[in-house]
Amino acid sequence: MNLIVAVDENWAIGRNGDLLAHMKEDMKFFRATTKDHVVLMGRKTLDSFPGGNPLKNRTNIVLTANPDFQREGVIVVHSIEELLAEAKKYPAEELFVIGGGRVYKEMLPYCTKAYVTHVHKAFDDADTWFPNLSEDSEWKLTETGATFSQDDFTYTFTTYERVK
Ligand SMILES: NC(=O)c1ccc[n+]([C@@H]2O[C@H](COP(=O)([O-])OP(=O)(O)OC[C@H]3O[C@@H](n4cnc5c(N)ncnc54)[C@H](OP(=O)(O)O)[C@@H]3O)[C@@H](O)[C@H]2O)c1
Repeated sequence: MNLIVAVDENWAIGRNGDLLAHMKEDMKFFRATTKDHVVLMGRKTLDSFPGGNPLKNRTNIVLTANPDFQREGVIVVHSIEELLAEAKKYPAEELFVIGGGRVYKEMLPYCTKAYVTHVHKAFDDADTWFPNLSEDSEWKLTETGATFSQDDFTYTFTTYERVK
């Protein structure tokens, strides 16, 4: 199972239910990487999308504790156990955990590859973070890709892989 995330210099990922920055090339990379695959997310991340709608051309699996929650085009699960059972129906390499903070933390132990976009800026009003993989001995940075610039910052695509 994979995960895909954009982090700032402090591994922050969000504020007020939204991303810290909307980056054109990162969005392109996200769309290309997850297209036709399965995206796993928390209910709050689903609600952060325009109209609260699922992502097109992808199977959307959403985690919520609310037994009444329903949304068109979404497979709803109510626990990590149920999420893992649903995920088993697909090839592991086609599964992408896409957030947010809580679901990344809960699903990290099940992931073996992390696509991390490093934003070279510290946003001081962040309220949601991703675990710092550079300080986690179970993970290793295996690839550093292209850097792009936008507004007053640059960002770089990287890949981490589970080594333990
Ligand atoms: N930078 C990035 O790459 C990136 C990517 C995605 C999201 N984000 C940001 O992350 C923030 C959202 O993260 P978040 O941590 O607040 O929320 P989240 O992880 O998206 O969703 C949390 C919700 O998921 C459900 N949930 C999670 N674990 C569960 C479990 N074990 N059992 C049942 N339900 C469970 C609950 O829904 P209910 O409340 O409905 O029960 C919970 O409130 C936003 O700011 C978003 O923009 C950033």
